[in-house]
Amino acid sequence: GRTGDLAGRRVVVTAGGTREPVDPVRFLGNRSSGKMGFALAAEALARGAQVRLISAPTALTPPYGAEFVEVETTLQMLEAVRQAVATADVLVMNAAVADFRPAAPAPRKIKKEELRADEGARADAQAEAEEVLTLRLVRNPDILQELTHLSAAQTDTAAAARSAPAPLAEVSGSSPSRSSETPARPRRLIRVGFAAETHDVLSYARQKLAQKSLDLLVANDVTRPDSGFGSDTNKVYIFHADGGLEELPVMPKEEVAAAIWDRIVPLLGTN
Ligand code: C5P
Repeated sequence: GRTGDLAGRRVVVTAGGTREPVDPVRFLGNRSSGKMGFALAAEALARGAQVRLISAPTALTPPYGAEFVEVETTLQMLEAVRQAVATADVLVMNAAVADFRPAAPAPRKIKKEELRADEGARADAQAEAEEVLTLRLVRNPDILQELTHLSAAQTDTAAAARSAPAPLAEVSGSSPSRSSETPARPRRLIRVGFAAETHDVLSYARQKLAQKSLDLLVANDVTRPDSGFGSDTNKVYIFHADGGLEELPVMPKEEVAAAIWDRIVPLLGTN
């Protein structure tokens, strides 16, 4: 009986695992299948939302009716999310985002014949016996954290736009100015994060909820065979901003998705 409770809402869901290029043929990736994110998008569509699904590569077919945006790297995902949340009510950040990327992806395929011990490798004891290739990584931006500032700034702009007389619309097609058909941005973007942990799930989850000032954080232990990466079922804990914690039983990812939207809907209020 939840049909239509997201009608008129714009939601953004991210899914999949980002890929960071090492050279033109290789990347650093992770084990995210995208199943949970695609299930979240499908459930939001079924409840009447307008859904933009921003996904890193997966083997899945996007749900019919979703606006599908394919990205590869964390930086590309950040850009796509930034654009999407400008008019969204909810961001569900389910993607497994790479925390690091190669500092300087090679412009040509790295050949083993070109391998030579660099200074880092020489310092390594193993380098005496084995050929070592050192890959330098740099920290990626945290998308959720970036949006903490961004959404606050945008919310101010939106509030100002509502109270001030509308400026004359520009006629240029490429103008980013909002037309009168674009609904005013919601007062506040509801942000939901995920935590995939192999240990100390609950304590890391509480930290993350606070650090990223999320409305909800969904945590799962990815070491369970019936939960996490690639699995069709998931066992999750849902942390609420007010300190509340719920433990859900192992369920198919579609049912977990429904349970998550059940908890997001009341947060939307009368935005
Ligand atoms: O800190 P950790 O990566 O465990 O936090 C997980 C949550 O933060 C997920 O919702 C993930 O999508 C999001 N995240 C992000 N940008 C990153 C890393 C994670 O938005 N660079």
